Amino acid sequence: MVSAYAELEDRMRRRLGGRECLYVPSCRFGLYLALRHWCRPGGRVLMSPVNDDVILFVVLAAGLRPVQAPLDPRDGSVDPSAVPGTVWRDLSAVLTTNLYGNPDPAPELRERCDRLGIPLIEDAAHAIGSTAGGRPVGTYGEASVFSLSKHTAAKTGGFLTLADPDLRGELAAARDALLHPTRTTAELAHLVRPYAEATVRGLRLVGAARATLRRLGLEERPEIRMPLRADALKQALPAAPALDPFHSWVRVDMHDYRLRPGPGRLRRTARRLAGLDGVLDAHRAGTERLLATEYGGGHGGSHEEVQPLFRVPLLVDDRDAAVAALARRRITTGYLYDPPLDHYAGEVFTEPSPAPEPAAWFARHALPVDPRRADESLAALRAAGIRPAGPSAAPGGAR
Ligand SMILES: Cc1ncc(COP(=O)(O)O)c(C=O)c1O
Repeated sequence: MVSAYAELEDRMRRRLGGRECLYVPSCRFGLYLALRHWCRPGGRVLMSPVNDDVILFVVLAAGLRPVQAPLDPRDGSVDPSAVPGTVWRDLSAVLTTNLYGNPDPAPELRERCDRLGIPLIEDAAHAIGSTAGGRPVGTYGEASVFSLSKHTAAKTGGFLTLADPDLRGELAAARDALLHPTRTTAELAHLVRPYAEATVRGLRLVGAARATLRRLGLEERPEIRMPLRADALKQALPAAPALDPFHSWVRVDMHDYRLRPGPGRLRRTARRLAGLDGVLDAHRAGTERLLATEYGGGHGGSHEEVQPLFRVPLLVDDRDAAVAALARRRITTGYLYDPPLDHYAGEVFTEPSPAPEPAAWFARHALPVDPRRADESLAALRAAGIRPAGPSAAPGGAR
């Protein structure tokens, strides 16, 4: 029988030079499968502290201890040279983030992992068209995971990709055992959601809709970070590895993350994936434009190939004022990851970075701008007098 996921998987396999791809209902679910397969519970995983908090909870759900890595303050990528030898020695895996599509140094991390005999797992949620060392991000690790909710904006779906195609059967079985059955109401909600959202936007009711959710206590993220609920999280920890005890954290922003998809959802996702090249071209053009400005942190004019960033982290002096300036032009800023995860979760739930300042600086000054709205966003920032924060102001200064 041809799998319902075959069309999607074939398209993705072609993008990754033939690498084995397994459809999953969300990137976070794919990451849970990868961590469960490659890491024994109790292990320690190096990850980026400037990251979606959902990822921290996925690592905890897999029964692992998150170890926060030092970052390069220019683009939020992992800085392997700042990881102490004592930290490397105790790791069971390295998890990259490729924040906003800026690649982590995959060739160097691959080599490190090979020397240590541990797996490299790539989170390529933001980096579907990015390359590192001349190869697509997501082709270096034993496993990599992609999200179809980012560039493709399908609001569902993703891939778990595998260096060893012989593992496909085992991981497909693990996926199917954890999926919840298709729910007709969830499928209908998914299919009508774009129309409902367009109507709310057309009627200029986005602010009112958000205020209503807040009043009803239904807002999952009243701040940038979701509420940690430390006591409940402490109670959940002994039940790891398992998804159910961590469901209320892992599902944030995507309640369907482990639902088996219906045919309508898959058809729409396949249409979106088919249009990805055009989307990547638009992201690349906007990225080039934004990086060439005073907010580009000196990246403009570099001879490196321009990446089709999912969001371009402009470096601004006053991030909150910049967010407000964009909001006045009805441009919503998402994907903020401030404070870093070690500050957010504390030592009970994560091992702090040995060099936290560069990550904290980047998290505070990075303004993730949608490159398809480069011109409007630049006009809003300049009109509001937003000043750039040059990397020379970052801890460690310009390199
Ligand atoms: C870096 C990163 N990884 C993974 C995910 C999870 O992707 P998904 O929503 O498809 O589970 C996100 C979500 O925003 C993310 O920002």
